Amino acid sequence: MQTSSARAAAGTRPAPPATIVFFGGGGDLTKRLLMPALYNLAGSHLLDPRTRFIGVDHVPQSTEQWRASLAATMRSFTRDASGEFHVRKLDPKAWSWVAQRLTYLAADFDDPASYGRIGALLDSTGAGGNVVFYLAVAARFFGPVVDRLGAAGLLRETKGCFRRVVIEKPFGSDLASAQALNQRILKVLAESQVYRADHFLGKETVQNILALRFGNGIYEPIWNRRYVDYVQITAAETIGVEDRGAFYEPTGALRDMVPNHLFQLLTMVAMEPPTTFDAEAVRNEKAKLVSAIAPVALRNVVRGQYRAGRVAGTKVVGYRREPNVARTSRTETYVALKLAIENWRWAGVPFYLRTGKRLGARRTEVAVQFKAAPHRLFRETETAAVMPNMIRLQCDPEHAIQTCFNAKIPGPAMELAPVATTFRYADYFTERPSVGYETLLYDCLRGDPLLFQRADAIEESWAAVQPVLTGWHQSRAAPEPYAAGTPGPVAADRLLARAGHSWLPLAPTPSGRQSA
Ligand code: BG6
Repeated sequence: MQTSSARAAAGTRPAPPATIVFFGGGGDLTKRLLMPALYNLAGSHLLDPRTRFIGVDHVPQSTEQWRASLAATMRSFTRDASGEFHVRKLDPKAWSWVAQRLTYLAADFDDPASYGRIGALLDSTGAGGNVVFYLAVAARFFGPVVDRLGAAGLLRETKGCFRRVVIEKPFGSDLASAQALNQRILKVLAESQVYRADHFLGKETVQNILALRFGNGIYEPIWNRRYVDYVQITAAETIGVEDRGAFYEPTGALRDMVPNHLFQLLTMVAMEPPTTFDAEAVRNEKAKLVSAIAPVALRNVVRGQYRAGRVAGTKVVGYRREPNVARTSRTETYVALKLAIENWRWAGVPFYLRTGKRLGARRTEVAVQFKAAPHRLFRETETAAVMPNMIRLQCDPEHAIQTCFNAKIPGPAMELAPVATTFRYADYFTERPSVGYETLLYDCLRGDPLLFQRADAIEESWAAVQPVLTGWHQSRAAPEPYAAGTPGPVAADRLLARAGHSWLPLAPTPSGRQSA
């Protein structure tokens, strides 16, 4: 297990040598995010020279062809400034470091013979017997691939060598399937060999929530039901479903974003302080928090589906017109919900979560809304001008923390106006190039599971949203339509209005001003 000091030393030396086998080597995730992450790690000298990469996929192609197609994709990123990975120019040294370590193996995931060939290739790579199997594949392959790796003896850890498996989301599609998948993989793997990835935990701004809360003395005393009125968590996207219809139709916004990404933000903001920064200490607290979430009631959930509209001035089609989507689809592309955390810190504090595609703005943010000052001293000031305090933890696209408070307007009268102070990462730190997967890959190689999901937390997360999945499955009701480019269905506003609360507007706010 990693100690706190080992974690503090992370980032200063290369990870141990290993071969990383990417199942789905020809797929989107490998091209778009994993290769750029390896390139960034190589550029930061955080990979051992003996590291090797094997891509496994069913498409027949040679290593040369695979390398050329990855290089072409990497080069295309230099032309798209809006992508997750963008550099003006590829560093030829860092890319060739990665490129010369790549080997491709065309293989059928369902064929047991493929695993003998993977084993033979591993024996020849000479990276010391350490192997990470990265399952960047459709979820239906997770169980079968792990079974076959086990049957081929590739998961056995011998002579001090590690064998680890990274499993992407979605880990299950409901409580029963997540439990079944855990049982299946834990027949062949020890929990310590399993790394369940959620890329939100790879984001610096998400990890920084723990730093803000537990590295400072001033926040924890007020971070509880006595001072907090409510918390709202937003992951709003402007992108649509586009070419992911086949995946999205049976998935929808709830399964895609809530028990995984949004719950990561929720646990970071609401968990108890761990006693150390060791993986198990932190993951114990996260699991405790998730198990305290009351099962979400159907009446506290709103779902929506986008129709045609305009996003950033461009006309876009409605969800039902996207490729591989049924014209009568009832899949939600937006969900908003209210949940309760049943523990001493948070009893009675509503947590509101919302996420959606084709909304008016891209924003991932946690806003902690504090209660109003207990005594209204400034009677002459209009009530509306005296805003309760708020701390906004802005994860994407802004990387910032904003504290909103009231200040006196200069002049003879004692009048108040809402103002804000903002900490922007870029003002203080040189931000390292990151697509969010660098830390996850590096930590997995180092054997630090802190930023990965444990079986118990995954199952508790599905348990919290299971009543909604069951209720929707049984109901004939359709999601409420909303026009693309808007903040989402109006019922989501009513959900908060019932308690006199409101969502932060989704339109970009003028810098330094609180908009509520
Ligand atoms: C993925 C979801 O896991 O996360 C996508 O499948 C979503 O639908 C994406 O767009 C959001 O991640 P990010 O980092 O772009 O906010």
